Amino acid sequence: MTKPCYLDDPNLGELEKSYLNRCIDSTFVSTFGPFVPEFEAAFARFLGAPGAVSVQSGTAGLHLALHELGLGPGDEVLVPALTFVASANPVSYTGARPVFVDVDAATWNMEPDDAELRISERTRAMVIVHLYGRICEMERLEEIARRHNLCIIEDATEALGSRYKGRPAGTLGDLGVFSFNGNKLITTGGGGMVVGRDPQRLSHIRFLANQARREGAGYFHPEIGFNYRMTNLEASLGLAQMQRLHEFIETKRRIHGIYAEAFRDVGELQLQAPCEGADDVVWLNAVTIDTAHTGTGIPEIMETLKQRGIPTRRLFMPLVCFPPYFEGRREEAYPRAVRLYNEGLCLPSSTLNTAGGIRRAAEGLKGLLVKRRPRPALVSARTAGAASAMTGGSR
Ligand SMILES: Cc1ncc(COP(=O)(O)O)c(C=O)c1O
Repeated sequence: MTKPCYLDDPNLGELEKSYLNRCIDSTFVSTFGPFVPEFEAAFARFLGAPGAVSVQSGTAGLHLALHELGLGPGDEVLVPALTFVASANPVSYTGARPVFVDVDAATWNMEPDDAELRISERTRAMVIVHLYGRICEMERLEEIARRHNLCIIEDATEALGSRYKGRPAGTLGDLGVFSFNGNKLITTGGGGMVVGRDPQRLSHIRFLANQARREGAGYFHPEIGFNYRMTNLEASLGLAQMQRLHEFIETKRRIHGIYAEAFRDVGELQLQAPCEGADDVVWLNAVTIDTAHTGTGIPEIMETLKQRGIPTRRLFMPLVCFPPYFEGRREEAYPRAVRLYNEGLCLPSSTLNTAGGIRRAAEGLKGLLVKRRPRPALVSARTAGAASAMTGGSR
């Protein structure tokens, strides 16, 4: 029987059901309840962090982190051009301005030299993103941040379990943020976590997330707060998922190993690369495809694979392509982010997959290359697409 393939579907089972039931039976379904502190404690323990504050989403966590670090109107914050839009939107929520940085061609993460070039006298912070679980080049970014007196906010939403020189993702910057959206390594349906080195900062973030209200102080709100708390229902899922985290990490490592082996000698397929010193848990495996060897563009490749039961997804569209962030910036200023978007494809990576399912996905993609035509000299992607349409394509 054909092995099914899952892109990024969540892995939920009996433990999650039993904790959810306990939560419902107790009637503590809202933002107070014993699963919330238990989940936070388990999460902080896993990272070796002094504490962790659960929130409603990764986006809310990033907003709180930026707010806590005092960012606001007139400030500029460096953000990689290739990421999910939620890495940049919280910067805008504070009134600060995201300034986009091109990414490295191999690691696909914020390129340190380009970051430095885009620093102005208004730059106060950088949101670094460990895209798809691959850790950023931390030493170079930290050195730039030190020299220019910038805060580092880690968007570690996709990088739970990854490490840089032994240090866990999320604990590398001033504040780190995780997401538990349905497609992440662990999920609470929707949720997030903020971690950091400074317990006072974390305690203030907890206060802000709860409408700036101190327990036992009645309805007195000395600051403008937010309703960003996680519910006990969500935390019950989170605790169950934490108890299965090592199993998920092992599975993610096996999945990545299968792709790495399958594509080892295939020059036309380049997996996102680790930086030196990284021990990554690759959350989503993604490749760039030399489409001159497939005869079709990425959309056609996706459609062919879909018909064979292999779900895929394009990489994130560079954020400078979106009206709120265009501001007269030219896509040409971000050539690597644009190239990666045009040539990149995310592959089945859910921990629900069997080794057989992943092998089938890898072979399915490689099979499209086997049918390649001789590489024509300097043919643009558009011309290659039109030619394949005329000849019935390469499928
Ligand atoms: C890179 C990145 N940043 C931020 C987020 C926002 O997280 P959430 O969906 O939990 O708000 C996500 C995930 O969705 C993400 O992938």
